[in-house]
Amino acid sequence: MNNNEEIIRLLKEKEDFISGAEIANTMKVTRTAVWKRINILREKGYTMEASPAKGYKLLKSPDLSIEEIRGSISGWSMIIGREIIFFDTITSTNTYAMELAEKGYPEGTIIIADAQTGGKGRLGRKWLSPQGKNLYMSIILRPAIPPRDAAILTLMSAVACASAIKRISSVPASIKWPNDLMVSDRKLGGILTEIKADMDRIFHAVIGIGININLEIEDMPDEIKICATSIKNETGNAQSRTLIAVEIINELDRWYSMLLNIGKKPVIAEWLKLSSTIGRAVKVTVGNNVFTGIAETIDEEGMLMLKLPDNTVKKISAGDVAILR
Ligand code: BTN
Repeated sequence: MNNNEEIIRLLKEKEDFISGAEIANTMKVTRTAVWKRINILREKGYTMEASPAKGYKLLKSPDLSIEEIRGSISGWSMIIGREIIFFDTITSTNTYAMELAEKGYPEGTIIIADAQTGGKGRLGRKWLSPQGKNLYMSIILRPAIPPRDAAILTLMSAVACASAIKRISSVPASIKWPNDLMVSDRKLGGILTEIKADMDRIFHAVIGIGININLEIEDMPDEIKICATSIKNETGNAQSRTLIAVEIINELDRWYSMLLNIGKKPVIAEWLKLSSTIGRAVKVTVGNNVFTGIAETIDEEGMLMLKLPDNTVKKISAGDVAILR
């Protein structure tokens, strides 16, 4: 735990004024060092009351607090979040995480940013990433699974995100194959998995998670307005990005351990439960081809099994699904 996290932990634990001397004693630093840290934390968006007689009291945390995320997950996380790196602004957390993975950063390292200038979506699209609104997070994994099973990492992440969003915000999030987080027919978030692999093994994978949390519909460009939503738009209330991030990390840690220890089956079973695609009439666009049929299920490798009008089943590995009413 670094000094910022330690001060936040002490202030949160006390829930009242705590004297500068007590903080300094506990942390074994000078009172001047405490005062300097408090000012740094204020600049990071923490609201503190300071009284010469009583000390400091934490009134409000920023809605994305790296100190609180680190403080909340230390202790229980097995793999995910052993190291968390935070940026105010970055080009893309995925691009940076791939660079760090290449340099040998450990499995479980997380990159979180408050804004992205070059956020990437699936199929070469851009991902809208304004400051102070949403969650942009990438995680480095080094799973000992064959490259043909890589899609399970995306399915697992979609399961973790949908479960976390449901639990924290009560928004009824579902998954549209393969990795869109949806509320009814509007997109709430998405997952972009990038991997480096050869024929036999995955060297590393990066799971990129983007979730619209407090984004207002009027802040979206017109082409997105009609098909996207955010947790705030669904509930009418701003949601803490810290709480959502902690719950996603918690869920990812649980599902990743399950995947490594038990295998793909529980992940696929949970994905099927959370899916809004299976059993529906859908139109799937794969490059220049369009297929219409019933989305029957997904196979062991996460491919969509589409039953065509002539009753044959087409396996689809990547594409865009539109649910037909
Ligand atoms: C999609 O197209 O549905 C996937 C969107 C993934 C966006 C996230 S935001 C964090 C991470 N960094 C990126 O550049 N993209 C992913």
